[in-house]
Amino acid sequence: MYPSFLLQSLLLSAPLISNAAAQSVYDSVTDPTKRAEFALSTLQIWYNAGTGLWDTTGWWNSANAMTMIANLAKSDPKNTQLQGLATKVFANTLLQAPAKNPQPGVEDEAKRRRDIDPGNGTFLLFNITGMESGYNKNLNPDASYEPVTVFPDGWDAQDGQYVDIQSLPIFAAEAKGTVKGVADQAAVAATPKAADWLDGFYDDDLWWALAWIGAYDVTQDIKYLQLAEGIFGQVTKAWPTRCGNGGIWWSWKKDYVNAIANELFLSTAAHLANRAQNKDTYVQWAEWTLNWFLNSGMINKEGTINDGVDDACKNNGFATWSYNQGVILGGLVELNKASPNETYLPLASKIAKAAIEKLSDDKGVIHDGCEPNCGGDANQFKGVFMRNLQLLQEAHPDDVFADSIRTNADSIWKNNRNEEQGNALSVVWSGPFVGPANASTHSSAMDALVAAINLDT
Ligand SMILES: *[C@@H]1O[C@H](CO)[C@@H](O)[C@H](O)[C@H]1NC(C)=O
Ligand SMILES: *[C@@H]1O[C@H](CO)[C@@H](O)[C@H](O)[C@H]1NC(C)=O
Ligand SMILES: *[C@@H]1O[C@H](CO)[C@@H](O)[C@H](O)[C@H]1NC(C)=O
Ligand SMILES: *[C@@H]1O[C@H](CO)[C@@H](O)[C@H](O)[C@H]1NC(C)=O
Repeated sequence: MYPSFLLQSLLLSAPLISNAAAQSVYDSVTDPTKRAEFALSTLQIWYNAGTGLWDTTGWWNSANAMTMIANLAKSDPKNTQLQGLATKVFANTLLQAPAKNPQPGVEDEAKRRRDIDPGNGTFLLFNITGMESGYNKNLNPDASYEPVTVFPDGWDAQDGQYVDIQSLPIFAAEAKGTVKGVADQAAVAATPKAADWLDGFYDDDLWWALAWIGAYDVTQDIKYLQLAEGIFGQVTKAWPTRCGNGGIWWSWKKDYVNAIANELFLSTAAHLANRAQNKDTYVQWAEWTLNWFLNSGMINKEGTINDGVDDACKNNGFATWSYNQGVILGGLVELNKASPNETYLPLASKIAKAAIEKLSDDKGVIHDGCEPNCGGDANQFKGVFMRNLQLLQEAHPDDVFADSIRTNADSIWKNNRNEEQGNALSVVWSGPFVGPANASTHSSAMDALVAAINLDT
């Protein structure tokens, strides 16, 4: 069993134990579950119950933090405190986060205008819908075309002041031994609306769809699955692009066709095929997307995946970011489960091995080309790769995958953890620690810790 301070720190937002004795405790922890649960207590310092998001990081990053927590909860089902925390985070985020959606409604308006004027497939003019908030994503030409998010003015100002999750009615009601507060919260959140989670960037939307699928897996609460289905249904409207008569655009602007949005579309469809009622429809979407993707040229000769395609619909040769090597792995594993095809797992295996080979340093620790200055977006990427590599390892075990997961998790714990910053984990997994870490670097590194949990079982 865990020492009681660990159990406490798992739920307490602050402060963490920070004395010399505790430091040696952390160093000597080798159990992957304990490592991940220590790290969760640090992550939750950033969780702002008032916004339902993690302070210091962006809108889509929080969806990834939630997915990671769902995976941790799935990996340690007997830890009731962990289950309770995860369940409350899902319920609270469902309720609070829509108010922080950086750009609701933008694609509805874009679609309405396209319907009025069918000649207009492409919206090139900035703020053509009048619903634009200033939220935008660009590729930075000065930094290997790294994706960079620009938030609306004041989005980061935390208009939701920091609120400790334990001060919420949902906790207070439990403390008083009444479930009324819980019921009230649940009633408010009973009919989640897909539109609350759409911001005009389809990768963002689908990160949230996958996060709600994770919440469904942990809680078996059907409203999370329905929300994921609703989001996916909305995103199908972004199909097809101007390339190969298929695929989805990166955003409502219809000006870029990239790997991440399409890998997420495939993966969400395949996850839904294994969970929702309209299995055939979801299998069909996943297969269409996969076949389109295979013909898109985004998988290069080395077997890794570049960022997207150019104006001529050819591979644009932009960076092979780690997350683009990751999301497709989980997608193929889920699709193979829903509708087996002997090509899926070998394809996933080939991509994973090419990525491990290309992205790892001589000690086996993976890197993105932007380190150590990966900004708000790219510092999330490596965790996405590890999370999906673990799904592949489960379905199609291979020592190459297991070694990569174990090596990265060990290196993070030994070389990329800072006890003075409350055991925070940063962006360079081989170390040394780059401060300050934030919820994005920390949750991404946690994906590797969580992936390591199930290796030996
Ligand atoms: C498309 O939209 C623009 C901006 O509203 C408009 O100027 C143009 O006439 C529209 N129609 C076509 C066919 O381009
Ligand atoms: C977009 O247009 C609307 C209405 O014209 C305006 O209120 C809004 O501030 C504009 N947004 C941006 C980011 O320029
Ligand atoms: C298996 O998947 C590949 C790649 O998507 C496809 O070309 C092939 O037709 C599929 N095979 C069957 C039997 O469906
Ligand atoms: C999070 O930390 C990374 C690594 O230090 C940094 O590149 C990024 O800008 C930080 N993000 C925020 C929002 O502080």
